[in-house]
Amino acid sequence: MQRHSLTLLGLESSCDDTAAAVVRVGPDGAEVLSSIVEGQMDLHRDFGGVVPEIAARAHAEKLDICVRAALDEAALGLGDLDGVAVTAGPGLIGGVLSGVMCAKGIAAGAGLPLIGVNHLAGHALTPRLTDNAAFPYLMLLVSGGHCQFLLVRGAQEFTRLGGTIDDAPGEAFDKTARLLGLPQPGGPSVEAAAKSGNPKAHRFPRPLLDREGCDMSFSGLKTAILRARDARVAEAGGLTAQDQADFAASFQAAIAEVLTEKTRRALALYQGEAPDTPLLAVAGGVAANGTIRAALEALCLERGVTFSAPPLRLCTDNAAMIAYAGAALMAEGVRHDMTLAARPRWPLDQNSAAMLGSGKKGAKA
Ligand code: KG4
Ligand code: ZN
Repeated sequence: MQRHSLTLLGLESSCDDTAAAVVRVGPDGAEVLSSIVEGQMDLHRDFGGVVPEIAARAHAEKLDICVRAALDEAALGLGDLDGVAVTAGPGLIGGVLSGVMCAKGIAAGAGLPLIGVNHLAGHALTPRLTDNAAFPYLMLLVSGGHCQFLLVRGAQEFTRLGGTIDDAPGEAFDKTARLLGLPQPGGPSVEAAAKSGNPKAHRFPRPLLDREGCDMSFSGLKTAILRARDARVAEAGGLTAQDQADFAASFQAAIAEVLTEKTRRALALYQGEAPDTPLLAVAGGVAANGTIRAALEALCLERGVTFSAPPLRLCTDNAAMIAYAGAALMAEGVRHDMTLAARPRWPLDQNSAAMLGSGKKGAKA
């Protein structure tokens, strides 16, 4: 990327994880020197979703502790850094503000350059951090707050090929778990229950498959599950473990089929301009799902595309991706100052239509 190495501190606080990391980017690639992630799951558990005010206060309390831990783990001081990168959006505004204020304080106090990073760019550039992936590549971002296909052409060049028009898949997993009486977060518990279930027991809808393009919709799926569950409860007086497993497996099959089919279409759009070794990368918590991963891997094999899934700790929200994206921007001459604003909404692709709605975990962008 550049002749000399850049060492950046990154901060992330846009949702319910407070994170700080130190990443060094040199001519031969990038190295994560430390990555601290403090989750807030316990603070929000009783409320059925992330409470923005609680999240913001927890970030404000935890950020400096995470920064100290990240510097200690990297065995570096502020004087060893070349800059401070921070998520400046999109996300829950109180949390983003906490991070931006903390980063401004560090940058001003230590005389370091400040770089505001789009959270989605952090996810989208992760295949560069982990695999030095060549541009352009296709990214499928699937988490509790995001769901979109991005064509990544450069550190500041993204084209959104499509995405959810309502819920993100992670939200659908979480809501389905709630409907079935399974624990939160719903993704892992639905996946575990699905292992002993029949994916053909129920035929749930495959929303928007009949419509052209890469847009997706997942909110109708939960209504279908609600109805089927209520019918089963009315008929049998409750759900057995086998019922839960069958619902979970049938739901997971529907999500996997929609994601795979839409990925097939996104790949067709991408392959027109793909390099010799085309690459599909996934990011976000839902990318941890074995059934979804296997379906996407099989599709890539069929289409001659390399499949890249970063290790889970870099797939889910973290600050290493923010530090890395900050270094990539810095190498391209980007610098911000004390006027850097926190942005609740900040679409990566300024030219694509704005997404409406906001999920349990904040703006979908
Ligand atoms: O990326 P992430 O940690 O946070 C954000 O949403 O930004 O993603 C969390 C989401 C949750 O909705 C969780 O239920 C889902 O990812 N998830 C999964 C799995 N593990 C986590 N969904 C399906 N299968 C999984 N194994
Ligand atoms: Zn995220």
